[in-house]
Amino acid sequence: MNTVKLNVNGKEHELPLIEGTEGEKAIEISGLRSSTGLITSDTGYKSTGSTKSAITYLDGENGILRYRGYPIEQLAEKSTFLEVAYLLVYGNLPGKVELDDFVSKITRHTLIHEDMKKFYEGYPAKAHPMGVLASMISALSTFYPEAQKSDLDPEEVDTTIRRLIAKISTIAAWSYKKSQGFPVMYPQNRLNYCDNFLYMMFAQPTEDYEVNPVVSRALDTLLILHADHEQNCSASTVRMAGSSHASLYAAISSGVCALWGPLHGGANQQVLEMLEQIRKEGSDVKMMVERAKDKSSSFRLMGFGHRVYKNFDPRANIIKKVCDEVLEELGTDDPLLDIAKSLEEAALSDSYFVERNLYPNVDFYSGILYRAIGIPTEMFTVMFALGRLPGWIAQWKEMRDNNEPISRPRQIYVGHTKRDYVELSNRG
Ligand code: CMC
Repeated sequence: MNTVKLNVNGKEHELPLIEGTEGEKAIEISGLRSSTGLITSDTGYKSTGSTKSAITYLDGENGILRYRGYPIEQLAEKSTFLEVAYLLVYGNLPGKVELDDFVSKITRHTLIHEDMKKFYEGYPAKAHPMGVLASMISALSTFYPEAQKSDLDPEEVDTTIRRLIAKISTIAAWSYKKSQGFPVMYPQNRLNYCDNFLYMMFAQPTEDYEVNPVVSRALDTLLILHADHEQNCSASTVRMAGSSHASLYAAISSGVCALWGPLHGGANQQVLEMLEQIRKEGSDVKMMVERAKDKSSSFRLMGFGHRVYKNFDPRANIIKKVCDEVLEELGTDDPLLDIAKSLEEAALSDSYFVERNLYPNVDFYSGILYRAIGIPTEMFTVMFALGRLPGWIAQWKEMRDNNEPISRPRQIYVGHTKRDYVELSNRG
């Protein structure tokens, strides 16, 4: 079966069926409007494929996640974040020479222009770090205007990619330092990506700072787990913004904003805030579960459910283990962790959650892990952005390399039909 037949008012139209390498099938409807005058309607894109992509394979029913064909479990165990970044962006695992070159270039791009430091002085002390991140990334385009050219030069694109991956960690760590009123710490080329980030976050000029290797490796794993997730809200935003040929910086800044929302990356911050609220209200997890089931309230259990994982989130399984290791290493005794465990148990044995396949997602555990590492709650979504950056870049690059047209969905108009303007004096 290579086509499907559509009967419109007695007239048959044949639509091609396309099939992905993992056997996923889709009806190709790009010619639908011209042949039938109809469009499709699918708010939230629950049944709509927006592109063909060779980056990430995700099977939500069976809890499978692969980057460029490699299972997430293998990458999380054996690879590093920068190697995964290379894999996502360029399509294959790098050889030693390529990896060394990629890592060294990223290491050497971590400084940000000194003038950008002044921007931090303009943000209010309570500025959310995601707002700072989005605007600082957007500001990078003003320092590197060559990235705005519509005709892409592959070498310039590579430099922009390296600049972004390198500078995002400095921008993120400095936004934290500034929010605390601490002096910023300059990146250290002798340190690897995660060690350097932890150093810029937690070192002080007044004392020695040693990176804990268990913490650094846990962070690296977290970034790997977040590195891509196919056509999610922020990746689609990056592709959509980039489809107008806006610069890569502009597209990534749009992605940061899309990630910020509590239904997407913002959920990890909300998880911690929810656990804190449960603690303040007497640690009654059952009451929270009941509140989440109550349809008259908009409250949801944050960190539960997923648009595509309807069985389990493979990232959550990995991060749960890493989380236990870090808590043991640091000897953390965190009451919020006990609440998280009871909440997980209560929800997983509740028919409402079981029937709707609502399982803990990656954000449920990542928040707990970030907290144990000492990352402040407001920075959680920034950490997600750090991890997701290579995925966004890969999605943008694929879209541009494939010469995809500008994204421009249709709509079904449901507003007023034509009506005549009424003078202000005649409007009751
Ligand atoms: N708590 C309580 N009820 C829920 C929850 C939840 N966390 N999630 C979904 N439901 C219910 C929802 O009310 C609906 O019930 P009914 O069928 O009776 O109307 C049903 O489950 C299906 O939910 P949906 O909203 O149609 O599912 P969706 O695919 O549109 O939403 C989601 C997916 C992730 C936005 C949603 O599950 C949610 O809001 N979860 C909490 C926020 C969260 O943890 N987000 C992080 C996602 S993972 C990180 C990432 O990849 O971005």
